[in-house]
Amino acid sequence: MPLPETLLDHARYPINEMHHPLRRSAIRKIRAELGKDGCALLKGFLSPEGLGLLLGEALERRAMAYFSQQTRNNAYFTGSDPTLPETHPVNIMMPRTNGFITADNYGPDTASHSLYHWEPLSRFLADCLEKETLFLYADPVSNMIVNVMTPGTRFNWHFDTNEFTVTLLLQPACSGGIFEYVPGIRSAERENYPEVSSVLGGCRDRVRQLDLHPGDLQFFLGRYSLHGVTENTGDTDRLLLIMSFTERPGITGNRQRVKLLYGRTTSIHGRSRIRPDSLLD
Ligand SMILES: [Fe+2]
Repeated sequence: MPLPETLLDHARYPINEMHHPLRRSAIRKIRAELGKDGCALLKGFLSPEGLGLLLGEALERRAMAYFSQQTRNNAYFTGSDPTLPETHPVNIMMPRTNGFITADNYGPDTASHSLYHWEPLSRFLADCLEKETLFLYADPVSNMIVNVMTPGTRFNWHFDTNEFTVTLLLQPACSGGIFEYVPGIRSAERENYPEVSSVLGGCRDRVRQLDLHPGDLQFFLGRYSLHGVTENTGDTDRLLLIMSFTERPGITGNRQRVKLLYGRTTSIHGRSRIRPDSLLD
């Protein structure tokens, strides 16, 4: 098993050396980008060896990917509400065709697992996000997953359950498969349905796109920014490793949503859920 730091371009990103100037400058860059629009990028974060290992582990597990049967959902992954108008964002159901390789397919002996559980990584991410501490997302099914986007599919507009997500692109689409987002369209206090409705209706005034390459580390505030991925118009899968962290321990996914997206739940999903805010989802 390689050491977690060898999975990174350590010369460029010595994140386990607390006082290294390159660590400090990476943190400054991320903070500035997140402050601007809730999205930040560290290009070439993985070493070639690390990218090869993580991609290899995803490809080995590709056959285990779960593709959900239900083909339509709203941006909140909740049910529709007949008391609201048909044009309300809660009632706008969009097709969903992508799949996930879930966390329970990765044993502790994998490079992906060891990177996610590497304490200097969560310490670095906490510093980038200006958080006291970050905890691993306590959801055993979805805390570290690979999104599989097959040719001809797209990931429609949605919000994430957790405030922020950290992703590593393992394999881009040959064409299409572009990440798009509308920064800060809602907040913990305000759903902002009118503007969400306008984006779902096709308005692109506030839509931004991100130029992502294999091995790039992306920070994204997905609880408040509507986001999605355009259609994969190439002929290979787009594979994205998603690592989730939370500010408080013990946070898990909504039982209904976990079942919908990943096809299974565990006993942990039956417990009353700790919610970070009072938003719909
Ligand atoms: Fe998302």
